[in-house]
Amino acid sequence: FDAVDVIRTKRDGGVLSAAQIDWVVDAYTHGVVAEEQMSALAMAIFLNGMGRAEIVRWTQAMIRSGERMDFSRLSRPTADKHSTGGVGDKITLPLAPLVAVFDVAVPQLSGRGLGHTGGTLDKLESIPGWQASLSNAQILTQLEDVGAVICAAGAGLAPADKKLYALRDTTATVEAIPLIASSIMSKKIAEGTDSLVLDVKVGSGAFMKDAERARELARTMVELGTDAGVRTVALLTDMSTPLGLTAGNALEVRESVEVLAGGGPADVVELTLALAREMLDAAGRPDADPAAALRDGRAMDVWRRMVAAQGGDPDAPLPVARHTEHVVADADGVLSGLDAYAVGVAAWRLGAGRARKEDPVQAVAGVELHVKPGDAVRKGQPLLTLHTDTPERFDRAREVLDGGVVISAGRSAAERSAGQTPV
Ligand code: URA
Repeated sequence: FDAVDVIRTKRDGGVLSAAQIDWVVDAYTHGVVAEEQMSALAMAIFLNGMGRAEIVRWTQAMIRSGERMDFSRLSRPTADKHSTGGVGDKITLPLAPLVAVFDVAVPQLSGRGLGHTGGTLDKLESIPGWQASLSNAQILTQLEDVGAVICAAGAGLAPADKKLYALRDTTATVEAIPLIASSIMSKKIAEGTDSLVLDVKVGSGAFMKDAERARELARTMVELGTDAGVRTVALLTDMSTPLGLTAGNALEVRESVEVLAGGGPADVVELTLALAREMLDAAGRPDADPAAALRDGRAMDVWRRMVAAQGGDPDAPLPVARHTEHVVADADGVLSGLDAYAVGVAAWRLGAGRARKEDPVQAVAGVELHVKPGDAVRKGQPLLTLHTDTPERFDRAREVLDGGVVISAGRSAAERSAGQTPV
């Protein structure tokens, strides 16, 4: 095969053959196809798409580029969840221990944040002592002993995707449905989970800004999983405003612990429970009551054991930023918009995220919300608190928030519902 022929086929809107796909993915993984050739091919795929058979074959080729994990010796069924990423999306933290309460093993192989969305591993690393890297043997032991593990996906899992994702990130080819679907599903299928619940985000803070494309991404991933023998379901959930009241690493751990203690913001609790019910259903536990496990401390108990098993101290105080500043309301009215993307970029600029893979992140940096869309606000009232160790970052964070916080005249959601007359 010749890489130029493969690129030309896709450039001209043709269909790649199974043999072409197998060859190009393998040759790229081994450095035979050059980065510039794969970047041209990724752009051709971005522009011209892929048919179902091509996506299935591409995903299989990515799985074959590395090892497959095997959880079949565990005494319990496995269930995993994947979110396509958003702002303030800390759901994995309370969800994994919560599902494990019901004798389901939750192998949550996670990533780090890039750009404006946070990464689960970055969040957990704000817990003193906590380690992201585990061997496959350690993962299996922890799944058997504790039931839940959240750790870094090892280098052996879908190495083709590791290379390709880094390339896509620098060539504006991330947002292609065939490439996102095959990237996510190759890792999940190689991981070997029995069932998978996908949380596909829609809105300004997500990859997919409109519902139609999010639905297509969800459908593509569910088909890939189902074809590979993984029970796969997808929920489409809103990412137009941040989830919960925090975006930033230690801030999100704090909020997750509140949820595990039976409190926390309603939207975080609701989504955690909705995803838990899907996972428990898929794992053959339809009668489980996850809300009770948040209330009575069983989920917190698994969380503490999960953190401790990876070297973390669940009782250690979380780090706190040396500097904070408020963003205040500039008028009376109702908060009609608090844009997820703006808050995500602000948290990133404050130090919570990274611009390049190798950059460090600040555990303490981020944005704390005091109001949600629909709330009444008064001029001068603090809407957000910005957190960082490096105060020279405040100005650039404020800049991006300027258009993202919208106050309108009118009544708040609470006032509207209080004023409703029963019929
Ligand atoms: N997450 C992934 O793992 N891959 C993508 O392509 C996008 C999000």
